[in-house]
Amino acid sequence: MHILTVVSHPREDSLTMDVTKRFIEGAKEAGHTVELLDLYREEFQPVLFEKDEPDWERTDLHYSPVVLQEIERMKRADGLAFIFPVWWYSIPAMLKGYIDRVWNYNFAYGSERLPHERIQWIGLVGASEQQFEKRQYDRLIHYYLNIGLSQFVGVSTSRATLLYDTLSGGTEDERNAWYESVLERAYITGKEYGTFTSEQPLMDRL
Ligand SMILES: Cc1cc2nc3c(=O)[nH]c(=O)nc-3n(C[C@H](O)[C@H](O)[C@H](O)COP(=O)(O)O)c2cc1C
Repeated sequence: MHILTVVSHPREDSLTMDVTKRFIEGAKEAGHTVELLDLYREEFQPVLFEKDEPDWERTDLHYSPVVLQEIERMKRADGLAFIFPVWWYSIPAMLKGYIDRVWNYNFAYGSERLPHERIQWIGLVGASEQQFEKRQYDRLIHYYLNIGLSQFVGVSTSRATLLYDTLSGGTEDERNAWYESVLERAYITGKEYGTFTSEQPLMDRL
């Protein structure tokens, strides 16, 4: 499978970027090919202006050159992956803007749906899993990513993997061990890309 992997992080030396590299290694190990879209390094402009506003009366794709180019990049892929830090219990504005502009009317919804077989979301979370479960932020994010985004654009095989405790302390040894475990999890997530099943049952319980 050819996977378009979209990453959103302002810093190249971030944990998010290390996770991305390990995810790609795992995916390649499983036989996939990967195209990386690094939104910050490519200086993607996330604000939707008039040219990319959906025109409900038109059926052609009439958007700005950048958006048409990104639509073509998406069409080259069989599957999608998105890797980002969780900011305010959601995706960062950069990634939100990419979706606003590129997942546009009559390509991702309207007369068409996305052609992709599956979507893997990986969010890095500062808080612990227990803190998230306590207020059901995990469900909020899973619901938003799997149903609000993936399913809305026609991709029912969708999985959201949250990597917790990115800001927790501990001794240097504990931090190093934790870091390795996060990267290992990213690698396994990449290896499992072609075989994971939909998280839909979790959604049904809401
Ligand atoms: C603007 C902003 C908003 C954040 N919001 C949350 C949040 O809602 N929940 C949370 O657990 N962590 C939150 N964090 C912490 C990030 O998730 C954390 O910095 C990130 O996972 C660390 O990965 P990195 O080193 O690759 O940036 C936020 C951080 C920033 C900068």
